[in-house]
Amino acid sequence: MRILGIETSCDETAAAVVESHSNSSNRGTILSNIVQTQLEIHAEYGGVVPELASRAHISNVSSVVQAALDQAKIKPADLDGIAVTTGPGLIGGLLVGVATAKGLALATKKPLIGVHHMEGHLMSPFLDNNSANDCSVGFPFVALLVSGGHTLLLHARGFGDYVLLGQTKDDAVGEAFDKGARMLGLEYPGGPAIAKLAQNGNNAAIRFPRILLDKKLFDFSFSGLKTSLRTHLIKNPPAELNPQSMSDIAASYQEAIAETLTIKAINACHHTNCKNLLVAGGVGANRRLRELLIKSAGRDIQVTFPAMDVCTDNGAMIALAGLRRLESGQSDSWDLNARARWPLTQLASVA
Ligand code: KG4
Ligand code: ZN
Repeated sequence: MRILGIETSCDETAAAVVESHSNSSNRGTILSNIVQTQLEIHAEYGGVVPELASRAHISNVSSVVQAALDQAKIKPADLDGIAVTTGPGLIGGLLVGVATAKGLALATKKPLIGVHHMEGHLMSPFLDNNSANDCSVGFPFVALLVSGGHTLLLHARGFGDYVLLGQTKDDAVGEAFDKGARMLGLEYPGGPAIAKLAQNGNNAAIRFPRILLDKKLFDFSFSGLKTSLRTHLIKNPPAELNPQSMSDIAASYQEAIAETLTIKAINACHHTNCKNLLVAGGVGANRRLRELLIKSAGRDIQVTFPAMDVCTDNGAMIALAGLRRLESGQSDSWDLNARARWPLTQLASVA
């Protein structure tokens, strides 16, 4: 099966074609993967402006879809289905993607499959492009999904069968990176900017708070950490700091986040008796987080990440989640609609 995946839930207009693996139900091979970022549009505002995002999606989505089909050397008529992110995300962007997918499905008479954005991220480690990634993990596993809009700790018992162990009570972890970066005078997105500045920093220079670390608490909270950074910067204004001190702050801030995520994810594995931990979403690209998780997991727990090029938003992960649903007989009717909010635990499970 070959599926086109369309992703427009935030600030990337993305489309990809993914083919099912003959020997594994979860994996898929990337035939094309086109991501057109809107970074330049939003950079001056320090975050995504929803109205501008929708307008950019509508301008770009057709050429991005065409480029994905061209790169995969496939005609629309040869697709087996059209998958699209229907939520959660920015409603204007989602509507552009859903309308585009409906038009294509109508013209080609192919099945239409609405995909939950975070289920897309969850499937991203199972993508390969015939080279590096060889994910052999099977359900059940613990999933740590960390992005700009979500911080979720799940017991993934099967595809579509997710038990929520914990989520953030305030900011998503990607937001904690983005807002922290803004306070430090760094560009958007803040995660990569903080990670870069942290490279030469001492991560033990400042002890920022690690919150809700009780073994049985799987919820997250990052607002206290953010306040603590603000308080530190009021006492130590960036304009008066040398580059080394700035790097130390970035490294210490990143360390507090990475350590919190690591402790909770490993605790969740013990709690559920799972030997596999899967980490996905934009923040999953953070190298220090990867390092700490692998170190803490030791030999008992195997940690799996997506390849770097499918960690942040992309159409391939949406195509793969759609493919998995279509293979099990699920597709959507013409009344498929965009959903700004959509709890992952409401998804239908798939045998
Ligand atoms: O999954 P994603 O591309 O979009 C959403 O679904 O939100 O995640 C974007 C988030 C942003 O907050 C960005 O700052 C963060 O992922 N991010 C990172 C890194 N790369 C992206 N955070 C920490 N370290 C990184 N290397
Ligand atoms: Zn995302």
